[in-house]
Amino acid sequence: MTDSYKTYRRPHDLGTPEVTSDKSVTLTVDGKEVSVPKGTKVIRAAALAGINIPRLCASDSLEPFGSCRLCLVEIDGAKGLPASCTTEASEGMKVTTQNDRLADVRRNVMELYISDHPLDCLTCPTNGDCELQDMAGAVGLRDVRYGYAGENHLEAEKDKSNPYFTFDPSKCIVCSRCVRACEEVQGTFALTIDGRGFESKVAASQDQSFLDSECVSCGACVQACPTATLTENSLISKGQPEHTVITTCAYCGVGCSFRAEMKGEEVVRMIPNKDGKANHGHSCVKGRFAFGYATHKDRITKPMIRDSIHDPWKEVSWEEAMEFSAAKLKGIQSKYGTGSIGGITSSRCSNEETYLVQKLVRAGFGNNNVDTCARVCHSPTGYGLKSTLGESAGTQAFDSVLKSDAIMVIGANPTEAHPVFGSQMKRRLREGASLIVLDPRSIALVKSPHVTADYHLQLKPGTNVALINALAHVVLSEGLESKAYIEDRCEQDAYEDWRAFILDEINSPESMESVTGVPSGDIRAAARLFAAAPNGAIYYGLGVSEHSQGSTMVMGIANLAMATGNLGREGVGVNPLRGQNNVQGACDMGSFPHELPGYRHVSDEVTRTLFEKEWGVDLIPTPGFRIPNMFDAAVAGQFKGMYVQGEDVAQSDPDTHHVTAALTSLECMIVQDLFLNETAKFAHVFLPGSSFLEKNGTFTNAERRISPVRKVMEPLGGYEDWEVTQLLANAMGYPMDYSHPSEIMDEIARLTPTFKGVSYDKLDKLGAIQWPCNDEAVEGTPTMHVDEFVRGKGLFRLTPYVATDERTTRRYPLILTTGRILSQYNVGAQTRRTENMTWHDEDIIEIHPHDAEQRGIEQDDWVGIKSRAGETVLRADVTERVQPGVVYTTFHHPESGANVVTTDNSDWATNCPEYKVTAVQAYKVTQLSDWQQEFEEFTQEQLELLKKAKAPAQVI
Ligand code: SF4
Ligand code: SF4
Ligand code: SF4
Ligand code: FES
Repeated sequence: MTDSYKTYRRPHDLGTPEVTSDKSVTLTVDGKEVSVPKGTKVIRAAALAGINIPRLCASDSLEPFGSCRLCLVEIDGAKGLPASCTTEASEGMKVTTQNDRLADVRRNVMELYISDHPLDCLTCPTNGDCELQDMAGAVGLRDVRYGYAGENHLEAEKDKSNPYFTFDPSKCIVCSRCVRACEEVQGTFALTIDGRGFESKVAASQDQSFLDSECVSCGACVQACPTATLTENSLISKGQPEHTVITTCAYCGVGCSFRAEMKGEEVVRMIPNKDGKANHGHSCVKGRFAFGYATHKDRITKPMIRDSIHDPWKEVSWEEAMEFSAAKLKGIQSKYGTGSIGGITSSRCSNEETYLVQKLVRAGFGNNNVDTCARVCHSPTGYGLKSTLGESAGTQAFDSVLKSDAIMVIGANPTEAHPVFGSQMKRRLREGASLIVLDPRSIALVKSPHVTADYHLQLKPGTNVALINALAHVVLSEGLESKAYIEDRCEQDAYEDWRAFILDEINSPESMESVTGVPSGDIRAAARLFAAAPNGAIYYGLGVSEHSQGSTMVMGIANLAMATGNLGREGVGVNPLRGQNNVQGACDMGSFPHELPGYRHVSDEVTRTLFEKEWGVDLIPTPGFRIPNMFDAAVAGQFKGMYVQGEDVAQSDPDTHHVTAALTSLECMIVQDLFLNETAKFAHVFLPGSSFLEKNGTFTNAERRISPVRKVMEPLGGYEDWEVTQLLANAMGYPMDYSHPSEIMDEIARLTPTFKGVSYDKLDKLGAIQWPCNDEAVEGTPTMHVDEFVRGKGLFRLTPYVATDERTTRRYPLILTTGRILSQYNVGAQTRRTENMTWHDEDIIEIHPHDAEQRGIEQDDWVGIKSRAGETVLRADVTERVQPGVVYTTFHHPESGANVVTTDNSDWATNCPEYKVTAVQAYKVTQLSDWQQEFEEFTQEQLELLKKAKAPAQVI
């Protein structure tokens, strides 16, 4: 099955982007008739007729530029030789692409390029994959008459500042493809062509090095470059790949499709797949470049066991590790009861793998104690959207944003956390869509090149619900609601109740101004702008869900979308920007303690019977423990064993003191991971995990798109993650016998109505599928709730604002809120083991100049951050990105201890932690916190114990 992906070729480039038009024109190219949509350029029309016109500055991912003059053609009745990349095809046009005259002109053009180009093809990194070389061949260049005696750029200095690519200006032909890629595809505008004529050259920002410039290392310019001027360092060091495998990025919920370009089992480079429906050939620095962690020296590739967390590790065979694990877990169950153990599935692993872990827990452990990291990120999305719209997932495909007229971004930072979608959104904003940002912090979207938010509603952390209610109040009180839509699509009684509630003066912008800190005039103007737009779309992130009222806010967002008629077609919708690569899939696959795959409650007898028949066991009809319940029960001595696959709860879950107390009290902690992560330091069994490069399976991204993950190398530990779960199940006495993940997907499809039509064969055929995929939607569902909501009529839910218990006081006067940055990913286990450390090697605390001055804090000072839960120390960044009274940090480095400070407050409906609001004090300090010093000692101890694993003789 994977072999069908194993072809190596440079994707065919049609010269200019696709044009959509109702009208078509028919022309003749070299005697061949071809019909194309009106507006198509001649070069593309020719390519569609199977005729490739030589070109250098044109590409079908960029708007035509017309600078290289290589694509000249003759057109009957036209003067001179027009450039085919800038000339529009017209009805009846007769084009000649090849004759002696054209060949001469092209050879002359090429001769000029080559006369200022180092002729070192044999040692050039792109030898064999160079468009300049190809074009020299295509035009039949045999001689260069001008020599190198005159002025040239051959000695121009290389810029090697970026850790992932090199800029060698001696090879630049100034075609501007890189500049256009940076502008059009990425939207960063970091590059320009400086100077004129012979002096023209590519410059990054103010003629700085790439590293010091505004460049965000997305690599779009490297991909666009037709020569070896911009080249991946991995290609320079390893040489040309020999085959490719199509797979899916394992970082964020955008789910970019990639061609892993391989030499044997070695990845030479990752090239974003032009046919990828989530990314259309684009990527960010993580997906394209940060794959080196997969073969990092820190990988643990042998199973290990120990009796106590203060014992040295002992490397053992897989058989011994499984016997040890099963004996421990069974022993715990016989001593403390069936419910004393549980498991955590991973949003980093595949659908098939998470499905298997929850199956092991329910069928093999005999309880429902299974949960996943969505508990701490988007569980309110599941609850809020299910109860209002009927389905726990985003409503649109990413491409939908290209049809939006007003875009509301709430508590999300797409350019940092979902960068490829961020670029797509910026493209639409540059085309003229309006932008409303609801965020306590001034995120990059608020003001970046050629993008400025119409309104930045800079609310106080924790007041989302107050603000969404105030926006809805304006819509209703000013008669801006979509009456026909509400009448047709929504439950009327619930709407009337909600209407009366929202229209209460307590929800007016004026009343809420003191709560949210947002001027009422801005709230009114933003609401009018959104309601008036033909297509209004809402995108939101963890700044919505990770609050004590996370679920309420999700319902508030759904209410606003229904009230303005913005659901059920392209360009609109409610779109959670889900964090991890497969967090959507982990939820879909039944990772929650109360739901079987497909979001069906465990108490539902019909569903349970279906699974009981397939799995051959009786299932428990009551929900099991959520992660916080597991920790509480562990501290109380009732929960004693855990199997954690690919999830670092010790670093990522709030209130670290509580989490470590829970983990320390376990009698058997089994961690399956790539590295000795923070959680593994509390483990008794370590099972080597496999990276996305070492496995087959599928990931489901934020737009419900199920995409293939394909193995490019054998698992370093010997098994793919699903195989390890299968070994454990068998050791526990619950038989599993899958021979390939496709069989697991077949089982999922048999048992889950929304996945009924999904199979590996169909994925191979279509590339990716958005669920629901079933008899009604054979090839999947890009837009949900089209004619009616999944639950039938949309349900308005009341959303009273309730202030969080986490109040500021004189003792804790500031609010700490958290977020991510582009170069690191979540707990950083992967990105910290790549060159991405160049950009962010420590978490820092952002503090407003006013708050810093009051405390005598200056840039780069050490700052103590103390909350009711704990204390940590970070370096200061004094900046106006945050408002007075708010401090902000990221959480990518374990020693930062961001979660030592966060409390165990959580969402009322789902227990999703309130990461975004912690009352703290900040003060200047000169040393690390007590926790950080203890952390350092514990880490050192654990690393010493790990070293001893390789020397079992000394251990015994
Ligand atoms: S890597 Fe991306 S951001 Fe940097 S210059 Fe190239 S296109 Fe622009
Ligand atoms: S760096 Fe490459 S893409 Fe950019 S102008 Fe030079 S040759 Fe063209
Ligand atoms: S945007 Fe997300 S999925 Fe795409 S390459 Fe970057 S990290 Fe990977
Ligand atoms: S490809 Fe048309 S002018 Fe360069």
